[in-house]
Amino acid sequence: MPHHPHAPDTTSRTARPRTLLMCRPTYFDVCYSINPWMDPGVPTFPSTAAAQWKHLHDLLVELGHEVRLIQPVPGLPDMVFAANGALVVDGRVLVARFRHAQRQGESPAYEEWFRREGWSDVRTARHVNEGAGDLAWTGDEILAGTGFRTAPEAHAEVAAVFGRPVVSLTLVDPRFYHLDTALTVLARGEIMYYPQAFDDAGRRLLAQRYPDAVLASAADADAFGLNAFSDGRHVVLPHGATGLAAQLRERGYVPIGVELGELLKAGGGPRCCLLDLDRDPAREPLRSRERDLDRETVGSEA
Ligand code: ARG
Repeated sequence: MPHHPHAPDTTSRTARPRTLLMCRPTYFDVCYSINPWMDPGVPTFPSTAAAQWKHLHDLLVELGHEVRLIQPVPGLPDMVFAANGALVVDGRVLVARFRHAQRQGESPAYEEWFRREGWSDVRTARHVNEGAGDLAWTGDEILAGTGFRTAPEAHAEVAAVFGRPVVSLTLVDPRFYHLDTALTVLARGEIMYYPQAFDDAGRRLLAQRYPDAVLASAADADAFGLNAFSDGRHVVLPHGATGLAAQLRERGYVPIGVELGELLKAGGGPRCCLLDLDRDPAREPLRSRERDLDRETVGSEA
């Protein structure tokens, strides 16, 4: 039988445990607006935000991931979105340089965290670059967003720093202002995305490189469904993205819905809360069927 290299493997998906960096939403609030989801006139509820964040945190731990924490800084309400703090590939850290003044104080906090933790290959970006929010390491190449936050010049800088191929993708819909609001890496060579969030050139590139990608509907994209985290088997995504969850299940993934409505008031979802440190904790991958079934029940109740 001819082997199709892009054919999705629907029989056995293996979770790869990760080390993830998160930041508690202690000072989270919406007191300015730098994306269309943010309306400072809408009240936020700190205890709800804390509970939703904790649910996500505990779920990731239960799935076998190691979660590290960075101390939140007063006056930096968006610091809970740790994905934006840096890009880490193969032990090398490129700390973000934020577009907006309101978030620029986060860069030194992340840089200090990495240095204090003993990471030696750490530098801060020269060009505006919002870390893993706009830069997705697929295992083969770095998919890089631009259009709203990360500067196009940053893409060349990222290629030089990491010595990996970088594929530039231009975002065109302000609601999907970071790459991680429009595209998720599911497993090596497998992605899901919302084509309408990209310009024509970006759509063409993605269609050529990932012909078997899962494509999101407008409804799932609006539910922030592309702001998902995949460990190769479990896909943690906003619970409202029911169409995507069904598509993922068909492909052998285990979708797990989470409710993060408070953070969505800032234009953030589960993926935004995580920075993948691209390091495996020394643990066994979770493969037990019972655990997965448990999780599906929790996911559908959430
Ligand atoms: N309010 C934040 C901002 O506009 C949300 C960031 C969400 N993070 C992400 N990786 N998409 O910068």
